[in-house]
Amino acid sequence: MAGKSGFQRLDKFLSAQLGISRNDAKELIKKRLVTVNGTVGKLYDMKIDPENDKITAEGKEVVYRKHLYIMMNKPQGVVCSTKDGESRTVLELLPPELRRNGLFPAGRLDKDTEGFVFITDDGVLAHNILSPKHHVSKVYFARFEKEAEDSYISAFEKGLEIDGGDVCLPAKIEILDNRHEALITIAEGMYHQIKRMAEAVGNKIVYLKRIRIGGVELDENLALGECREMLHKEIENIYTSFLE
Ligand code: URA
Repeated sequence: MAGKSGFQRLDKFLSAQLGISRNDAKELIKKRLVTVNGTVGKLYDMKIDPENDKITAEGKEVVYRKHLYIMMNKPQGVVCSTKDGESRTVLELLPPELRRNGLFPAGRLDKDTEGFVFITDDGVLAHNILSPKHHVSKVYFARFEKEAEDSYISAFEKGLEIDGGDVCLPAKIEILDNRHEALITIAEGMYHQIKRMAEAVGNKIVYLKRIRIGGVELDENLALGECREMLHKEIENIYTSFLE
């Protein structure tokens, strides 16, 4: 993050923007592979203005972005945490150009759930999206073990009581023609929530994919495991709650 004046140390800037360690950033500078406004940056503690100075590293411009906002189509078998001893994390799937320090998934999907994961280093925005106060809606495509019944519609609407006594906020279910599949919209993110809701109505989820967060749909051009930066408009729309 830039200091109060907006200026930053060159090594800190490179480390944050390129997702490399401060030592690796210093190494690049030492090897004369970094330029600042066309001249070789020699001092790693030199102060630069990220908004106005032109910085290159290894011949490529380092485009300054205060924060990154990434949409990922998470595959099964990958966990939504920053570190995990055993399983791969969503952060490990990021391509090198989208890696940087401080990124984390804002909201978790289970290891066996697919779909839209929002990854950012903007703690304020993430907090707002996750805050129960904001009721940001999430839409899931779900496949049930048994046929879904029409009674689910009013049960979901009323607010289901799930195991452990938690009562869900009103939710919406649209049962699809084959009756084993449905679109489910919830406005919170309790642990295993959809699976527990299915159990509360006597059914079981056999496949789950998040397809929308707030007003933003998962980009269908993203294959499982792929991601892309989000557009400005999408970042604004992610706040939308459409259950109220
Ligand atoms: N509900 C679940 O049960 N699992 C998820 O991953 C997301 C919502």
